[in-house]
Amino acid sequence: MSKKPIIVFEGIEGSGKSYHLNHVCKYLKNKRISFIKVREPGGNINAEKIRKLILDKKSNFNKNTDLLLYLASRSENISLLRKNYKKKIILIDRFTDSTIAYQHFGLGVNLKIINQINKFLLGGMNINFTFLNIVNKNNMIKRLNKRKKLNRYDKFNSIFYDRVQKGFLRIAKKNKSKYLIIDSNSDIKMNKKKIIEKLNKII
Ligand code: TMP
Repeated sequence: MSKKPIIVFEGIEGSGKSYHLNHVCKYLKNKRISFIKVREPGGNINAEKIRKLILDKKSNFNKNTDLLLYLASRSENISLLRKNYKKKIILIDRFTDSTIAYQHFGLGVNLKIINQINKFLLGGMNINFTFLNIVNKNNMIKRLNKRKKLNRYDKFNSIFYDRVQKGFLRIAKKNKSKYLIIDSNSDIKMNKKKIIEKLNKII
C-alpha cells in the first residue's frame, strides 16, 4: 500500500461519514502527521460556489446538469489534489464513488459517461482506500430529522437513498481489498477503533 494515500469517506446521508472523517483528522493532528482534507462538492473557493448552486433548495437542474456540476466542482479540486498527490495524505469527504452511486444508481445517468469524465479528470491519480459508511433506513431518517438545514440532496425519499446505498455496496464488492464497510448502526466506539486500525495500516 502506498504511503501518503488518497483516502475517501463515502456513504449516504446520515451514515456518519463526516463524523468519522473528522475523527481521523483529529487523530492525525494529534500524531502530527500532515494531511489535507477536501470535501466534495466543494473544497475550494470556486468549487464551493458550484456546491452552493447545486445544493440550493431553489435549484431544479436536471440530472445531467447535476452530473456536470458535480464534475465541474471536482475539476476545480484536481490541481490541489495533484499538488499533494503522494506528498501528503489526502482525505476526501465524498469523491468519484458518490457520483456513480447518486447520479448513476440513484438517478440513472449513463455510467460510461461518468467513468470517462472521472478518468479524464483524475488523469492517473488513484484512490488507495475507501471507508464506506452504511446506515439503515430508520437511523438515516432520525439523523436527517436532527439536521437544522436540509439541502436539495437531503430531500429525496428513502427509496432513493436505498438505491444509492446499494449502489455504493456494489461498487465496494467489485474491489473488496480497497474498501472497509463501516456499519453505523453498530457501536460507534468500535467503528472508530476499526477505522484507526485500518488507517494505521494504510498510511
Ligand atoms: P454532503 O451532504 O456529504 O456534503 O454531500 C452533498 C450531496 O451531494 C450529497 O447528497 C451527495 C451529493 N453528491 C452527488 O450526488 N454526486 C457527487 O458526485 C457528489 C460528490 C455528491
